[in-house]
Amino acid sequence: MLHILRHPLADHALTHLRDHTTKPATFRTLANQLGLMLALEATRDLPTRGHAVNTPLEPHTGQILDRGLVVVPILRAGLGMVQPYLDLFPDVSVGYVGLERDHATAIARSYYCKLPPLAGKRVLCVDPMLATGGSAVTALDLLREAGAEDLRLVVVVAAPEGVATVHQKHPTVPVFTAALDRELNAKKYILPGLGDFGDRLFGT
Ligand code: PRP
Ligand code: URA
Repeated sequence: MLHILRHPLADHALTHLRDHTTKPATFRTLANQLGLMLALEATRDLPTRGHAVNTPLEPHTGQILDRGLVVVPILRAGLGMVQPYLDLFPDVSVGYVGLERDHATAIARSYYCKLPPLAGKRVLCVDPMLATGGSAVTALDLLREAGAEDLRLVVVVAAPEGVATVHQKHPTVPVFTAALDRELNAKKYILPGLGDFGDRLFGT
């Protein structure tokens, strides 16, 4: 259930994303690039159906997408992974789940939730960092309660602790990540990680 992105360009982008000297503008570009590569992986098996067209030379039956897509970023850092879906999938809907980790306890608090209809759609919950897994599990709970069946989690960096928690609470949800890092530190930050993704994305 864990899919780790394997592509030299992904390694290149992720290494620069980790670099503490990378400034927010470059950070956003790299996050967008990794988000795009992850979006392709997480939609690789989308169902398609036959569709007849006429080429300039003859009739042809090709394939077109046969399932709607909903992308749900976990605010706020997840916003850095949304644009590729808007660029790639013209009919995508966007929902929002607002969660914030308490700095002392690392427990996620929900402050916002706005979701489009989810039944019958491929629902991709996107959040760059999977640390303890608390935020992801809370978001996946909300999405399940709202009717999501075909549900996936897409992250940039995952800690083993977070992957285990998600797999325990949501065993049927595949997780897509660009990297599986070593561990969490005492403050529940991912090592080697890349620091606070939201702060680096938004220059805060
Ligand atoms: C970060 C990150 C995840 C969460 C991961 O968000 O974007 O949502 O932490 O940690 P967890 O797996 O231990 O729950 P944060 O709470 O810092 O909020 P932000 O996106 O507003 O910066
Ligand atoms: N959230 C982040 O932004 N980074 C971490 O390492 C853990 C949680």
